[in-house]
Amino acid sequence: MELKVTDELAVVILAAGQGTRMKSALPKVLHPLGGKPMLMYSLDLAAQLGAALPVLVVGHEAEAVRQTAQDRARCVEQSPQLGTGHAVLQAAPLLQGHCQQVIVFHADMPLFRLETLRGLIEHHRQRQATLTVLTVEANDPRGFGRIVRDESGRIIGIVEEQDATPAQRAIRELNTAMYVFDAGWLWARLPSLPLSRKGEYYLTDLVMMAAREGCIIESVLCADANEALGINTRVHLAEAEAILRQRINTELMLAGVTLLDPATTFIEADVKVEADTIIYPNTHLQDKTTIGRQCRIGPNTIIRHSTIGARCKIESSVVEEATLEDEVDAGPFAHIRQGAYLCQGVHMGNFGEVKNSRLGPGTKMGHFSYIGDALVGADVNIGCGAITCNFDGKTKHKTIIGDGAFIGSDTMLRAPVTIGKGAVTGAGSVVTRDVPDGATVFGVPARVKPDSQV
Ligand code: UD1
Ligand code: CA
Repeated sequence: MELKVTDELAVVILAAGQGTRMKSALPKVLHPLGGKPMLMYSLDLAAQLGAALPVLVVGHEAEAVRQTAQDRARCVEQSPQLGTGHAVLQAAPLLQGHCQQVIVFHADMPLFRLETLRGLIEHHRQRQATLTVLTVEANDPRGFGRIVRDESGRIIGIVEEQDATPAQRAIRELNTAMYVFDAGWLWARLPSLPLSRKGEYYLTDLVMMAAREGCIIESVLCADANEALGINTRVHLAEAEAILRQRINTELMLAGVTLLDPATTFIEADVKVEADTIIYPNTHLQDKTTIGRQCRIGPNTIIRHSTIGARCKIESSVVEEATLEDEVDAGPFAHIRQGAYLCQGVHMGNFGEVKNSRLGPGTKMGHFSYIGDALVGADVNIGCGAITCNFDGKTKHKTIIGDGAFIGSDTMLRAPVTIGKGAVTGAGSVVTRDVPDGATVFGVPARVKPDSQV
C-alpha cells in the first residue's frame, strides 16, 4: 500500500539534549558517523518519508545543530531541556491543527531503515491507534525504557531503567523511542505530563496515560535489533559505525562490487560505486565520492570527495576533491589533490602530485613530479622529477603546457610560463621564459636550441 504522507503526517526529531555521556564539547548529534553528522541520518529519513519539513527540537548548542540542519528542518528551541515530553511540546505551536499523525524519533538513533518507519506508520493507521510504539527485543537493555504489559499482553506503560523494579528491569522488550501518535490526542495530553522523579517530563509517560484512558496502544517489533542502536557513549558510536559500515559494504557487494576484505574496507554513507569494481583491503572511500565501473581501487588508498570514471586503477594513493576520467591509472604513492582533473588515459606513477591542474588525455607523469596550477595538454610526457615552480612566496602562478610537449627529467618550470605544443625541455633545464611551439630548450636558465624551431 502506498503511504500518503503529506500534511497528514508530521515528523518531530529530538536533538536538544546535551549528550553528557559523550564527554565532548561537540553536541552528540553532530558527531560523525559514516562520514557525516549523526543528525543527517534522521533528516534523511524524514526527507525520504516525503512528509512536510520535519520539526527539529534543538537546545544544547542549538546554533551549531541548526547550522548543520540548514534548510532541511524547521528548528524549534527547547530551553531549558526538561525531558523528551517537554521537547515534543515545543513543536506544538508549529504543528497543532495541521496534521493527523505525528511520528517522533530521536536524533541519537541514526540506524533506522525507511521501511521500518513506513511499517510503523502503516500499522498505526490500519489499527486507528492513539499511539504506536516501535519496540525491540534485546538481551542487553543498554539503559532503554522497558515495555510493560498486563496479563493479557496489552501495553500499559514504559518504565525508565532508573525507575524500574527488579522484575521490570528483567523485561527484554525495549522502547526504541520511535512513536506514531494521533495528533489531536498528543497535543491535548502533552501539557499534562507528570513530572518524573528525575525532574523531567518523559514522553514515555504518555503510554501510561493512554492506557488509563483505555486508548488503543499498538506496538511493532523492530526485526533487526541493530537498527535500534541508540548512541549515548563513544562506545555506542563505534558500534554504530561498525554496523553502518557492514550495511554499506553488504549493499555494495550485492550490487556487484567486489570487496576483497570487507573488514578492512571503509566506505562512507554517501559514496557510490558501480558494478564490477574491485576494492582491495585498507581502502577508505569518503564523503561524496563516486567510482565508475571496472575500477581497481587499493590496497592502501584514500579517496575523498572525488569522482572516478570507469576502468581506473588507483593503488596505494591519496585522491582528494579531484576528478579522474575513464582509464586513469595512478600510483603507487600518487597524491592527487584538490582541483586536479585527469583526462582519459592519464598515467600517474609513483610519488607524483597534482593540484588544481588539468592533465589532458593520454598525458603521462611517471615519477617524482609536481604539477600545480597548470593546464597540461594531451599526450604530454612529464619526465622524472619535473616540477612546476608555481609559488613565488606570495602568489600562485599558472603553467601552460601544449599538446605533445616533452618535459625532460628534472625540468623546473618557473611559473607563469607557457610551453608550446610539441616543445621539448632538456633534462635539468630551468625554464623561466615561454617556449614557442616545437622548440627545444635546455640549460639554466633555459635557452632555445638553435634551429630547433619548426
Ligand atoms: C530515551 C527514552 C527511553 C528509550 C531511549 C531510546 C525517555 C524518557 N526515555 O531514553 O525510554 O528507551 O530514549 O534511545 O524518553 N532530548 C531533548 N530534550 C530533552 C531531553 C532529551 O530533545 O529535554 C533528546 C535528546 O537530544 C536525544 C533524545 O531526546 O536525542 C533522547 O534523550 P536521552 O537523554 O538520550 O534519552 P534516553 O535516556 O536515551
Ligand atoms: Ca539516548
